[in-house]
Amino acid sequence: MRKKIVAGNWKCNTTISEGVELAKQVNILVTERGAKDVVVVLGTPFTHLASVCAIVDPDRVCVAAQNCAAEPKGAFTGEVSVSMIQSTGATYVIIGHSERREYYLETSEILNKKVALTLAQGLTPIYCCGEALAIREAGTENNFVKKQLEETIFNLPAEDFKKIVIAYEPIWAIGTGRTASSQQAQDMLAFIRQLIAKKYDQTIAAACSILYGGSCSPANAKELFSQADIDGGLIGGASLKAEDFLAIINAY
Ligand code: 13P
Repeated sequence: MRKKIVAGNWKCNTTISEGVELAKQVNILVTERGAKDVVVVLGTPFTHLASVCAIVDPDRVCVAAQNCAAEPKGAFTGEVSVSMIQSTGATYVIIGHSERREYYLETSEILNKKVALTLAQGLTPIYCCGEALAIREAGTENNFVKKQLEETIFNLPAEDFKKIVIAYEPIWAIGTGRTASSQQAQDMLAFIRQLIAKKYDQTIAAACSILYGGSCSPANAKELFSQADIDGGLIGGASLKAEDFLAIINAY
């Protein structure tokens, strides 16, 4: 059985004290009322990782970085390496978010390095993919996402690919309140799973957790998560409110 995962991506929000308070609330709600079969992940800013790791129950709440350096260490001012992330206690790294690709010009070549370093350090990459509105309107979203995967994680040997979590986040649905319909999300996730089966095999495809992200909320999570190929969500805005995040976790 593949894992159900609900991961929050706090993006560039909260001070350390606000973030620790939010993590405390999520931790209490999840330990008291959270669905036991859902892996909960908090994607915090780098500055918060160690403090958040120190206050959550690691059996119920995991912690993710939202990015990592493309080099293991050295003279790269301002960068945060995967081993630094690991030393905080975080166990996941979000890689290739569309905001990183768009605003920080992260290419497939850079993402390949980040995925490799993350895996080498024993952390789990949450690899993001997804198309912009113009691509969706042109009807070429499947080819676009296929190319994103082929240029990056499909280069991995099967043993490494098995450790990856994928998040499909159509850019037009991120922070816009315009969620993909559950059918659109299901269709793309089923397509991705079929690509994995072709590239690797059915067993690997069936075991891969594939998440949907983009304006996911307590109001639409149940409908989205009821789809056969949707294994959870990558949640932006709604992950900043502990009760909303819990409602999404419990939407299965
Ligand atoms: P929103 O849930 O705010 O649309 O953000 C989605 C996202 O980008 C998560 O990584």
